[in-house]
Amino acid sequence: MFDTTLRDGEQSPGSSMTGPEKLRVARALDEMGVNVIEAGFPVASPEEFEAVVAVAGSVEKATVAALARASRHDVERAAEALTDARRPRIHTFLPTSDLHLEHKLGIGRDEALRRIGDAVEHARRHVDDVEFSAEDATRTDPTFLVQAVAVAVQAGATTVNLPDTVGFAHADDVARMFDAVRSGVPGIEGVVLSFHGHDDLGLATANSLTALDHGARQVECTLNGIGERAGNAALEEVVMALRVLPRYRERYATGVRAERLGPASRLLARITGIRPQPNKAVVGANAFAHEAGIHQHGVLADPRTYEIMTPGDVGAPESVLVLGKHSGRHALVRRYEDLGFTLTPEEASRAYRLFVMLADRKRDIHDEDLLAIYYGGTMER
Ligand code: KIV
Ligand code: ZN
Repeated sequence: MFDTTLRDGEQSPGSSMTGPEKLRVARALDEMGVNVIEAGFPVASPEEFEAVVAVAGSVEKATVAALARASRHDVERAAEALTDARRPRIHTFLPTSDLHLEHKLGIGRDEALRRIGDAVEHARRHVDDVEFSAEDATRTDPTFLVQAVAVAVQAGATTVNLPDTVGFAHADDVARMFDAVRSGVPGIEGVVLSFHGHDDLGLATANSLTALDHGARQVECTLNGIGERAGNAALEEVVMALRVLPRYRERYATGVRAERLGPASRLLARITGIRPQPNKAVVGANAFAHEAGIHQHGVLADPRTYEIMTPGDVGAPESVLVLGKHSGRHALVRRYEDLGFTLTPEEASRAYRLFVMLADRKRDIHDEDLLAIYYGGTMER
């Protein structure tokens, strides 16, 4: 698991962090057990440079990566920022799609190949661990992508990342792209293939899993899925899909301590002020909340009826049975028990009747409402 919360995540509107804040997130990621922490883009600003230096010096277990465009200057700044890292990685990138080459860089394919070879070779003079990303890989002519990756591998890249930079790929496209690179690039078996998905169409997690099915052995993600535009593949989603789905459970171990996902997600939300939406998979406030009576009844009988993982698995607060107009009698009786009241069947019937009437008028039912119902006050108010 390669986490880029501090680089691609931080680039998204409203998510920028100070150096000390980055350090706190980096420590949480390191303790959680992600393998690579991308600390930032050192050439971007002096403050960013210092933040990468601080993260590099404090992370104990994970590899620390720093991003660099495919230029010697960027690569040198990245290498400098990583001086104190126990396991430094320079991550250099260049777009490979004609659209980006022509309209963003104003160069042709030959010049792109030259820059890729030069940047990777230069990075290898500084560190042994060099990642090359073919930006916009999913919109790149497959024949040229194979050529570009071959140049990177030849120049000494140890990881090759194929990003879906604009979240435009279907799983079939991802599968074809990885198959083409694996079968077309000499020496590819000696490098780690990686996928980096953006979520513009909500496909980033699914595409990351498909990449793994087709030979990727690194997936790039962010906490809470923060990132450019609609964000990146969410770390918590990929980790839990690999852990929960039988087809992956037996084959992959991420080494991530999943019970740290919830606390890390909350830490990031506190720092950035951006909370994941309530229905966000794994870390959203409603990820373990049940309002429908049928669901509540099921969960009370056996949580596995409506929960594919437990809140404890991911460090979330206990499951919540939300009381609203869809709730059933079982959940209501249980809530009264939690409040210290064991209702007789007659009391339960009366309370449930009054509760349903109240829930039709009021969206959220609180414990005070239940007490008022119990003592006979609410409906008269
Ligand atoms: O989305 C992207 O292509 C990137 C690269 C720099 C890896 O973030
Ligand atoms: Zn990205």
